[in-house]
Amino acid sequence: MKKLRLIVTTSILITITMMYLYGCKTPQAITDKSGATLWGENCQRCHNLPPATMYNDDQWKSIVTHMQVRSNITKEEATKIMEFLQASN
Ligand code: HEC
Repeated sequence: MKKLRLIVTTSILITITMMYLYGCKTPQAITDKSGATLWGENCQRCHNLPPATMYNDDQWKSIVTHMQVRSNITKEEATKIMEFLQASN
């Protein structure tokens, strides 16, 4: 019985430690991604990637706002993608 309690307590402690250590890793990894990477990963799921030169800055702004809803990406990710596209057109 004592052994079981020790195992349970230890696994709870390990779980809490893991949550503490790795809890913030995923959002961090997303923020570290560049606009170009996010663009490549998110914008070709439904269609081919249109070249950045195809649209001007204003057009990219409204397209990315529209596609953010479709892609289900965060505002931050959409902004990075938009800045990348506006810098490459
Ligand atoms: C869930 C599917 C989906 C994802 C993900 C997606 N798109 Fe689209 N995209 C569409 C569809 C459907 C259209 C057709 C036009 C519309 O719905 O407005 C489109 C159209 C476009 C067009 C043409 C717009 C026009 O006015 O001719 C561009 C450019 C575009 N997407 C860029 C992007 C970018 C950049 C991303 C990434 C942020 C993206 N798309 C992600 C579905 C998607």
